[in-house]
Amino acid sequence: MAARVRKAVFPVAGLGTRFLPATKAMPKEMLTVVDRPLIQHVVDEARSAGIEHFVFVTGRNKSIIEDHFDQQPELEGVLAARGKTAELEGLKKDLPEAGRASFVRQQEPLGLGHAVWCARDIIGNEPFALLLPDVLVQTPGKGCLAQMLDVYEQRGGNILAVEPMPEDQLKNYGVVAVGQGDGKTFPITGMVEKPKPGTEPSNLTILGRYILQPEIFALLAAQEKGAGGEIQLTDSMLALMKTQAFYALEYEGRAFDCGSKAGFLAANIAFALARPGLRDQVIAEIKKLV
Ligand code: UTP
Repeated sequence: MAARVRKAVFPVAGLGTRFLPATKAMPKEMLTVVDRPLIQHVVDEARSAGIEHFVFVTGRNKSIIEDHFDQQPELEGVLAARGKTAELEGLKKDLPEAGRASFVRQQEPLGLGHAVWCARDIIGNEPFALLLPDVLVQTPGKGCLAQMLDVYEQRGGNILAVEPMPEDQLKNYGVVAVGQGDGKTFPITGMVEKPKPGTEPSNLTILGRYILQPEIFALLAAQEKGAGGEIQLTDSMLALMKTQAFYALEYEGRAFDCGSKAGFLAANIAFALARPGLRDQVIAEIKKLV
């Protein structure tokens, strides 16, 4: 039986340069989609998949993220005094249990692979989930990570959520090569980060949700720089593929790349439309605009 996935890593140490000046003093991961910061949406997804411990890889200017996952006694006192029980309960529900959130610093944003490596001591020798907080996934039922864990329980190994993309966009993503699958889950036979046009092994892009085995850390330790001069996770996953199985899951749902302006705005509309109390108002506003 595959070892249980209890911990999730959230790398939040990037500079968010595509969102300047919004991200000059505020972390990209605190940008809000409707009324929840991106990082809260992604923690919600992990928690609903059964994750118990949340590991944040932070950097300078990111301490507000730590505060977000802490109590706010003054605010809570005011809410209680004013009888705003729903808001108070909401805040309490969002808090990780005491001792179940860890924060580790990536002193320099050297790349996603390096950020993940920074979590090695906290993860230890167990499989873990990795969720990129600037990717939000809207699903009709189970969340994306929960769908991946279903596959993991059957197959073990390493699981990546993938999504088909139009050819002209593949150069911006990690792209996998896959073997024969069952229409939803495919064995991964190769992968390339930001392929040159014409060299893509498929149209399936790595989305930002991973289940990884702890052996990845020894490979990340080499700290070799790859595409864009960054320490890439893809390079270490490729090395781990020599000894371990990797599966791609075409999950059910839709992802929004909230690291890009268009993706972030689309996520705001999509998540607002999914809120019963907001839907009609948002549709009316959009109709006025277009
Ligand atoms: P991105 O590449 O999308 O984020 O990394 P970025 O570098 O902050 O954004 P741009 O391209 O400059 O606009 C995906 C996630 O990985 C984290 C980021 O914070 C983001 O949540 N990350 C990236 C790190 O934690 N450390 C890194 O060295 C790089």
